[in-house]
Amino acid sequence: MIIGLDHIAIAVADMDVAIARFLEDFGVPMSGREDVPTEQTSTAFFPLPGTRIELVTPLDGLGPIAASIDKRGEGIHHICFRTDDLDADIQRLRGKGYRFTSEQPRPGAHGTRVIFVHPKSAGGVLIELAEHPSEPT
Ligand code: CO
Repeated sequence: MIIGLDHIAIAVADMDVAIARFLEDFGVPMSGREDVPTEQTSTAFFPLPGTRIELVTPLDGLGPIAASIDKRGEGIHHICFRTDDLDADIQRLRGKGYRFTSEQPRPGAHGTRVIFVHPKSAGGVLIELAEHPSEPT
């Protein structure tokens, strides 16, 4: 079951510039940074009540975020719903005809399991589903 808006991810070409924008210009507190080698991305987190903004940039200039920036430029990359039962939601959505960008969930940041709904089956929006291991972060 979907239980919240986990985060909004923004693809950025220069992480230092983007961090300065959100942290210094807008004054949104940053909680930390984390590399996710399985996704070839580096991330920075800005928690806000009930959700967070997540900046994502390519690790070593490669991976899906690099491809996205090449194709569409910087900007909102995906939204992520938090689920309390990822496998059940995948099964339910598959039954309704939704397609995913991978067969199985993969490890995400903060110890989550994540999967992405293909934007072509979701009105052009890349939607991530994330299940946290225990307490939400
Ligand atoms: Co995400």
